[in-house]
Order: sequence, then structure tokens, then C-alpha cells
Amino acid sequence: MGSIFAVETLSIMKIAILASVLVSIASCLPISKKDAASFIPLSGYSVDRTNITAWYGAQPDASWYYLLQNIDYPTGQFTSAVPGVVVASPSTSNPDYYYQWVRDSALTFLTLVNKIEDHGFGDVDLAQRVEYYINNTYTVQRVSNPTGSFDDPGHKGLGEPKMNLDDTAYTAGWGRPQNDGPALRSFAIMRYLDAVTASNNGNLHLAGTPNIVFQNASDIYNNIIVPDLQYVVSYWNTQGFDLWEENDGMHFFTALVQLKSLDYGIGFANKQGDSTFAATLTAQRDLLKTYINNPSSGFVGASQKHIIESPQLTSRGGLDCATFIAALVSHDQNDGSDIPFNVDNPYVLNSFYYLLNDNKQRYGMNAPYKLGAAMGRYPEDVFNGVETAEGNPWVLSTAYGAQTLYQLASNLYENKKDLIIDSLNYDLYNSYIADLSAVDSGYSSKASVTVPFGSDNFKNITNSISQFADSFLAVILDHIDDNGQTSEEYDRTSGYQTGAVSLTWSSASLIGAFRLREKLAALKN
Ligand code: NOJ
Ligand code: NOJ
Repeated sequence: MGSIFAVETLSIMKIAILASVLVSIASCLPISKKDAASFIPLSGYSVDRTNITAWYGAQPDASWYYLLQNIDYPTGQFTSAVPGVVVASPSTSNPDYYYQWVRDSALTFLTLVNKIEDHGFGDVDLAQRVEYYINNTYTVQRVSNPTGSFDDPGHKGLGEPKMNLDDTAYTAGWGRPQNDGPALRSFAIMRYLDAVTASNNGNLHLAGTPNIVFQNASDIYNNIIVPDLQYVVSYWNTQGFDLWEENDGMHFFTALVQLKSLDYGIGFANKQGDSTFAATLTAQRDLLKTYINNPSSGFVGASQKHIIESPQLTSRGGLDCATFIAALVSHDQNDGSDIPFNVDNPYVLNSFYYLLNDNKQRYGMNAPYKLGAAMGRYPEDVFNGVETAEGNPWVLSTAYGAQTLYQLASNLYENKKDLIIDSLNYDLYNSYIADLSAVDSGYSSKASVTVPFGSDNFKNITNSISQFADSFLAVILDHIDDNGQTSEEYDRTSGYQTGAVSLTWSSASLIGAFRLREKLAALKN
């Protein structure tokens, strides 16, 4: 009461001075992390576990709700954040994920961009969120941080993986730099601008709005996209931390998403009339592509029949869901590019297969599952979502498992291609998809089996790939919270969700699985 009385006795002038003093005090203080985070369950949503078809219909909206809730927006819930910022999770302790990560944010916005590409610009709210993200990126890029600054050679500071929600630098120890961030971010922003050109007459919703740094696409190209791509150009051949933020070296995930950003950037730079930069990007794209394909880089091992995620890390076998996530992210559009290592690459497909087999044995919660199962990041994982102990399966690995299979079948329908099963993948097919001896009795002595597009075998096999994919979603349904939110992980034994609540990336990966499921169904009809 005293404070209300005090305010009543102040003149307007004094209130204004007081307010500005408070603002300046607040801007000097570290943000209070306990002030705003909250997890708000979608009211009225309740998972019906008895009817998976109904769940397929209802869950995408729920996952969208949770994803959008984690984006600060003028109407957003995160008072200490800036519009366009994504919180990795509203969890502020055990674990503290109340930060913006460059990778998580870019993958989140790629999810929004996919929806805009599929359904157009009718949803203004969605487009505005992307534009606030782009606007905020301009600020984030220019904040000096422990990795470096914007003005360093190659914009070194852009390798910083995570920032506070108010855009100040996170200065405690961390696995830095992480070289996938600028690649994913520039890719997401270029894709958005291409959609704006293709379906919104080139109109940006926020151009001309106060505090928005761009007027048009070329502002965004020059000031935001080019620096990110310059970072990729300068640093793709240097070591950095992997996407799991744990080990320093060269990584398949990082290299493949970098390759995609450079390759996409070439076409984009040319459209901007910047043939000089396009030439730089082309030269580096070619070098990086050669590097990824070269056996000496170690990604495609001579002895292992799968991709090795981090070849220098000899303490691990190299199986990692990062490999098929990389394949999915870098091929999520049928854009005619010839980036290698889509999900039909025999080594990528085996990374998925061997990880699945490992994880079925490793995690007690998978005992009931015959086909799909809950999948983790990599077999040797010891992060339990809060601390180092025993690793768990993750929601996103499981959702990307489903995506891998939907994408495998979709690609064939989209390109009207025969299914070619490489001998490296015979075990996968025989174990989970189709008895190959019924398709070709002499298959086992052959280097590959070809199943002609549109044949009965083709239809049966792709149906069974699609059912295999569905079985991963069934696992997610078994263990999802009743309110439809997805955390980071599953307890390896009980299957209860654990780790960061409402992880934005979990929602994004599940939305992506539903999207590819629908896409495949439409292509098959
Ligand atoms: C937090 C990182 O984000 C996570 O990937 C890692 O596993 C744990 N720290 C343990 O190092
Ligand atoms: C830990 C994961 O390992 C990392 O990839 C992610 O960026 C952060 N959590 C935030 O979600």
C-alpha cells in the first residue's frame, strides 16, 4: 500500500525520472533468471493413448503451442527476453536451459519456415516471429563474447553457441566455439527470404517498424546473412565443439550443415547480384565437399559400416543420431542440390540402424518394442538431463528416427525413383522392413537390390517403411506427458520424461516428424 500511496503523491515528471533510473539500474544488473520462466500446459489438451489416429491429428497443434510458447514475441511470456528470442526450455534449474542457443533457435525457425513454405503467409503471426528473430540476430551477432567479436577476422565471435535471453554474452565456461550455429542460422534466414520472394511479393511484415534494423531483403543479406556465411567460409576447416557441446574436433553434423549453407548461399548471393561473394562461396563449397567425401576425413570409416560423427574422438565408436539429423536438416527440401549424405546414403542409414539396435539393448524402457524404440544421442552418452551419470534416450533422437524413415520413402515418391537397397543395408531391411529373399532370392550375393518404382514390391516395402516410422511415434505417444509437452529425455528404465521440460527442439523435431508423415501420405495417394 505504501508504494501505491508514494506513486500517487509523485508528479508525472518525477515518475518519468524514476522510471528512467529504474530502467538504467535494471540494464546494469544481470537479469534475474527466476523472474519469468514458466511452463504453461496447453489448457484442455489431454493425450488419449488409446487412439493413435486421433493423436496424429491432435498432437501437432499441441507441439506447435509448446514451441511457440518458447519464442519471445511482443505478446510473449518472457519478460527479460527480447522479441524473436527462443528459450531452449523454460527450465531455470536442474537443468538451467533458460538461454538462447544459436543451434536450437535456428532449428526452431527452420520449423516455422517449413510451415510457411508449405502453407504460405496466411499466418501473419508466424512470419512476424521469424522477422523478429532475424532482427534479433543482428544484435546477437554484434555482442562481443568469450569466443571473440564481430570485428575479429572472419567474424570470430559468431562461433559463440549460447547467449543470455537479454542478448548479453554468457561469460561462464562452455564448449566453444560451436561452428554449426552460423550455418544453420543463415540457412534458416535465406529460406525465409526465398519464401517471402516466392509467395509474399517480397514484402517483409516488419520493414519500417520502429527498432527494426532492415528495410528489405538486401539489408538482411548484407548485414546478417553475409557475416554468418563469412564465418563458415573462414572456420569450416578449424576445430570446434560438436552439437552436443562436449568435444572439440571436426564433426560430420557441423560439416554437412556448413556445406548446405554454403551451397544454398551460392544461389542466394547470385540472386542478390553478388557474384563476387558467390564465387568465394563456390570455392569453399567445393573444398568442403571434397573434405567431407574424402576417406581421410574419417567420416566414412573403412572398417565401420556407418558414419563416424567425430573421427578424432577415439573413445567413442562414432554412432550418433547427429549423423541422420544432419542428413535430414540438409535435405529437408527437394531443391535439386546435390549435397551428399541424404538419409538413403547406406552409411547414414546404417548409423540409424546400428544406433537403434544398440539402444534397444541399452535402455530397459525399450524392452516392449519390436520395431521402433526410444533412441539416444550416442551409445556412450553419460548426461542424464541434469548431470553426468547415465545417459538416456531423447525425444528428438526418437522423432528424427521417425523422420529418417518417412524421408527415405518420400524421396522415392517425390523423384519417382526405384528403390535401390545397398548390400550394406540388407540387415536393416531384413530385420525391420521386408524379407529380401522374397523380393530377390539371389539377393545376398549381389551388391544391391533394385525394386522398380511403382511395382507391388515397391508399394509393400514403402508401406512397411512408413509403418516402421509410425512405430517411433507410437513410442513417443506411450511416454508423452498427458498435457502433450515433450521434455528433452526419457528415463532409460521407466520411460518417464525427464530433463529440460518443454524443450523447444523436442517440439520442433516432433512437428517435423508429423510433417514428413503427412507429406509421405500425400505422395503415396
Ligand atoms: C550440457 C550440454 O548442453 C550437454 O550436451 C552435455 O551433455 C552436458 N552439458 C554434459 O556435458
Ligand atoms: C544440450 C544439447 O546437447 C545441445 O545440442 C542443445 O543445444 C542444448 N542442450 C540446448 O537445448
